[in-house]
Amino acid sequence: MATTLPADLQSALDTAIGGLPQQALARSVDRLSTRYREGRAASTPILGSDVDVAAYAGYRMPATYAAVRAVLGEVAVFAPEFSPASMIDVGGGTGAAVWAAADTWSSLTELTVVEQVEQALTLGRKLAAGADSAAVRSATWRRGVIDTRTPLPAADLVTLSYVLGELPEAARERTVRWLAETAAMVVLIEPGTPAGYERIAAARDWLLGMGRSLVAPCPHERTCPIPRGEDWCHFSTRLPRLGAHRLIKEGTLNFEDEKFTYIAASAAPVSRAASRVLRHPLKRKGLVSLQVCTDEGVLAETKVTKRQGELYRSARDVSWGDAWPPAD
Ligand SMILES: C[S@@+](CC[C@H](N)C(=O)[O-])C[C@H]1O[C@@H](n2cnc3c(N)ncnc32)[C@H](O)[C@@H]1O
Repeated sequence: MATTLPADLQSALDTAIGGLPQQALARSVDRLSTRYREGRAASTPILGSDVDVAAYAGYRMPATYAAVRAVLGEVAVFAPEFSPASMIDVGGGTGAAVWAAADTWSSLTELTVVEQVEQALTLGRKLAAGADSAAVRSATWRRGVIDTRTPLPAADLVTLSYVLGELPEAARERTVRWLAETAAMVVLIEPGTPAGYERIAAARDWLLGMGRSLVAPCPHERTCPIPRGEDWCHFSTRLPRLGAHRLIKEGTLNFEDEKFTYIAASAAPVSRAASRVLRHPLKRKGLVSLQVCTDEGVLAETKVTKRQGELYRSARDVSWGDAWPPAD
């Protein structure tokens, strides 16, 4: 999987961030990176100033955009009938997920970002003002703290991207239920760490308990076969560091790999992958070896040899995170 920001978002980010004092941005990036690595719940908002928000947009938004875009691409493949008109992104920050959703479904016309930090909404709104997509341009940016006592307005799609880990542990289950009650499709994305996976695995159980159908990444609805404590289900997307992002990460590589984990669940029954590739495929001359999770809920190694013709050609192109065999 590889994803670049849409050109209109890249140029809006470069304009918004390019002129800001580099030292202040660098200090914020350091602080935010350390804080996010700690991965603990936040009792006060982590984004505490205009500079923090700009730093977040510059160094994290391209990566969260890439992760959300990769996930929504999978949802679109396995729920081809799903053609959302409305979406709510909760804890939306500067709006990465609404851009990714608009890029995935041209059917979207009503996008809403709910976010607790006013400065994030202000920057998100500014970035969206010149978007090519009319849906992104006309998105609603609403200040709000997650409050599970008040139902969200109904929407076709609800997303929660890189937020669950910031919530107190005791609030996570009711938040996931609250989101799933809002929308036909719920998509949760977390950093691809063992702790991120634990949160997604717990959410998977809650969603199944609510009778939701899993869309992706799981090819089955049985117990997750990944041995807890030894491994974790996660994926990776490569993104180039361009413009403001490159400036902020000065002197470092011109790309990065964003690791993420996710679950997408639907109120309507959907098709699923036959199996899902869980590692970078091992490609040797005449042989591709795939570590997969299968529709029977087991981990397996699949070997595809040159003798298998068409299937082998597909295996040469398959990546970590893809469905196997590829969906049509
Ligand atoms: C790591 S950022 C992710 C932003 C965005 N979703 C993305 O993928 O780029 C987490 C966001 O969730 C927001 N957030 C955390 N807890 C929240 C809450 N209880 N209510 C509303 N927003 C919240 C934070 O202010 C922050 O903007």
